[in-house]
Amino acid sequence: MSLSDAARAVRENAYVPYSHFKVGAALLTPAGNVYVGCNVENVAYPEGTCAEAGAIAAMVAAGETEIAEAYVIADSPHPVPPCGGCRQKLMEFAKSSAKVTLATVDGAELVTTVGDLLPGAFTTEHMDRS
Ligand code: THU
Repeated sequence: MSLSDAARAVRENAYVPYSHFKVGAALLTPAGNVYVGCNVENVAYPEGTCAEAGAIAAMVAAGETEIAEAYVIADSPHPVPPCGGCRQKLMEFAKSSAKVTLATVDGAELVTTVGDLLPGAFTTEHMDRS
């Protein structure tokens, strides 16, 4: 299954009783494996857990820690940008040059990179004097 089909399919499983806004994410690793996640909300924290974070958790739980490419899809007028926290989480596991495709369910796609999504990222280099 392609990365886009995987993200589109898992989006259907999103648990979104508060926002009613379903998001699907799929990650490809250098080993060629695909991990998926959808957003999961709850009453105490209605913003819940983002789809990207869910896919990252699935990847790490399976024993992998590198993202080669990411795909995020939602039903919105324009491709949805990942939230700030998810940008940092993607950066943790991807090279700056890793491709990220943001998509809408009706076929619009915006192709960017992890580095372009998080300019001036905080990295371990900033702790070099510690
Ligand atoms: N959301 C994601 O899952 N990923 C994004 O990139 C943007 C926002 C979710 C979180 C929440 O469940 C809903 O969308 C509205 O913020």
